[in-house]
Amino acid sequence: MLRYYTAGESHGEALVAFLSGMPAGLEVDQAFLDRELWRRQQGYGRGGRMKIEQDRAHILSGVRQGRTIGSPIAILLENRDWKNWQEALPVATGDPTKHKRVASPRPGHADLAGALKYNFPEARYVLERASARESAARVGLGGLAKLFLRQLGIEVLSHVVAVGSASMPEGAVSWDDIARLSGRDDVLLNCANGEIEQQMKQQVDEALKTGDSVGGVFEVVAHHVPPGLGTYAQWDERLDAMLAGAVMSLQAVKGVEIGSGVSAAHSRGSAVHDEIAYEGKEFSGFSRARNNAGGIEGGVSNGEDIRVRGYLKPISTLRRPLGSVDFATRAPVKAAYERSDVCVVPAAGVAAESMVALTLARCALEKFGGDSMPEVLRNFNGYLEQLKMY
Ligand SMILES: Cc1cc2nc3c(=O)[nH]c(=O)nc-3n(C[C@H](O)[C@H](O)[C@H](O)COP(=O)(O)O)c2cc1C
Repeated sequence: MLRYYTAGESHGEALVAFLSGMPAGLEVDQAFLDRELWRRQQGYGRGGRMKIEQDRAHILSGVRQGRTIGSPIAILLENRDWKNWQEALPVATGDPTKHKRVASPRPGHADLAGALKYNFPEARYVLERASARESAARVGLGGLAKLFLRQLGIEVLSHVVAVGSASMPEGAVSWDDIARLSGRDDVLLNCANGEIEQQMKQQVDEALKTGDSVGGVFEVVAHHVPPGLGTYAQWDERLDAMLAGAVMSLQAVKGVEIGSGVSAAHSRGSAVHDEIAYEGKEFSGFSRARNNAGGIEGGVSNGEDIRVRGYLKPISTLRRPLGSVDFATRAPVKAAYERSDVCVVPAAGVAAESMVALTLARCALEKFGGDSMPEVLRNFNGYLEQLKMY
């Protein structure tokens, strides 16, 4: 079973990511992993932190001579900002006068709930772990999951559907357009329509000007996924449920939609369900003229592209802060402000690609499981034959 964890604080020495259950013999492309980490750092509206960090996946274990060896993989991502925080956040007791308190909790952040839960007098340790810096570690792991999925012909990418009130019109963006976006070396808002991307930029500019923040919507697309991943047989093995949990686990994601799930709730069945034909060339030959189901029916992939949308609330750290209360005096004050992003929709999309890739890799390993890549591929190719013969 594919299992993964992360550790590390936002301003600590490093992030560490751990992945267990990857078969032996998978070729690891270091440049690809680092490019994925770079993609997570892009997008218009990011804060100063992204100028300090240049993430690189430093693999500590589980990969030798360029290939996985079946043992747990550990990845270290250095925090370059650590040099500025060593005295404020030492592992040893250190000098308490150098400590940087977060004196008043930010509405919308984890500050208050976390301080109450862990019995901290203020919120420094809360934000250190709740921060989405952690998502960089997931992107390191997600890169490995993507390399695995590629061996099965599956690709996972994302694009931005909305930033604030600037939004793409209804209708699917093609896989080719999404793939083209991912090759860009200058990422603005990762939107497939240049005109709408400029409207999205205006939304960010307005937020920047007024000391505010904006949220939005990203869509992750998994391309060329065979039918049969996930199952309706048990509630927690449904692919839609697993994907919803995985994407919702990302910081600031407050809604997840599979296919056109939200508008489907307001439509008639005849306008929603994807009629079935038998004229396709992929997998079993069954095909659909549209994909409102987002590639999943009954918790099982159906052979169409998997489409998962994440709805992001606006960032909660505001340059013009909302009202809060001082942790020490309980007096009304403005919420704390610390250097912050204003818009993170493209970056959240990249992090969500990782969560989708890790989920699909887990399901694929459950279905085609094996300890080495040749064993997995033998099982996978046997299944493809079965689909063709169906
Ligand atoms: C890529 C990414 C970057 C983020 N950067 C910030 C940030 O700079 N400032 C901030 O207040 N929140 C940021 N967030 C959101 C917070 O981490 C998140 O709102 C907070 O941890 C509370 O969790 P919740 O929103 O899921 O309830 C970011 C989220 C993502 C996905």
